[in-house]
Amino acid sequence: MNAPLAIIGGTGLTSIPGLAIERREMVKTPYGPPSGPLSHGELNGRKIVFLARHGHRHSIPPHKINYRANIWALKSLGVTHIIAVAAVGGIDDACSPLAIVIPDQIIDYTYSREHTFFEGRPGKVEHIDFTYPYSSFLRECLMTSAEKMALKFVSTGTYGVVQGPRLETAAEVQRMKRDGCTVVGMTGMPEAALAREVGLEYACCALVVNWAAGIMGETEINLSDLEDAVNTGIKNVRVLLAQLLAHAYPI
Ligand code: HPA
Repeated sequence: MNAPLAIIGGTGLTSIPGLAIERREMVKTPYGPPSGPLSHGELNGRKIVFLARHGHRHSIPPHKINYRANIWALKSLGVTHIIAVAAVGGIDDACSPLAIVIPDQIIDYTYSREHTFFEGRPGKVEHIDFTYPYSSFLRECLMTSAEKMALKFVSTGTYGVVQGPRLETAAEVQRMKRDGCTVVGMTGMPEAALAREVGLEYACCALVVNWAAGIMGETEINLSDLEDAVNTGIKNVRVLLAQLLAHAYPI
């Protein structure tokens, strides 16, 4: 039987050390190829499927990711639950670099992405409820694990999803702050909505890797600092995921 739980790894998480990979599978979908092969493996005694969102070599930029193929591939393998890991910038004071944020809301600023499976069938216009875009069950699993491991985490947040690949201007971040965004990233949508469209439970584990543009006054974003924060912070994300798989995920 395939694993019901998948992890989608973002920047910094192109593989999971410790994941004993049993096989890699390239899944064909009606939407073209996913970001790469899906790895079936076992971590902490639990079978999971892992997919690197940006590809194995981190070569697919956020706006070129085939989100539909990724979600379709996971669904077709029998996955029912997805934990999506993403690197983000912090807007709210609480979301400082290296914090782990478990957002409960989304504002979507992306454009020109293939964002739905519901392309219109004769006589059928389909919608989804998206009031609460994330799975409360999976969010609880993430929070329980973070608490248990004494990791610095923020238990709510609004993930503002931007088109990228450039970072924002200071004015754009101020607008996002006024809108209520607490973190900003490039990959949270349409992934979350597509998961909902096909009935998958989905939650995001966001790692803050920089202060968003202009939040720290006139300082510009230093991309090498950002990369260092990814490499440092992702270790905590790995600890959290290991704990979640071993103890906090009852399915
Ligand atoms: N903006 C958008 N995406 C990001 C950021 C940011 O500041 N940091 C990491 N991903």
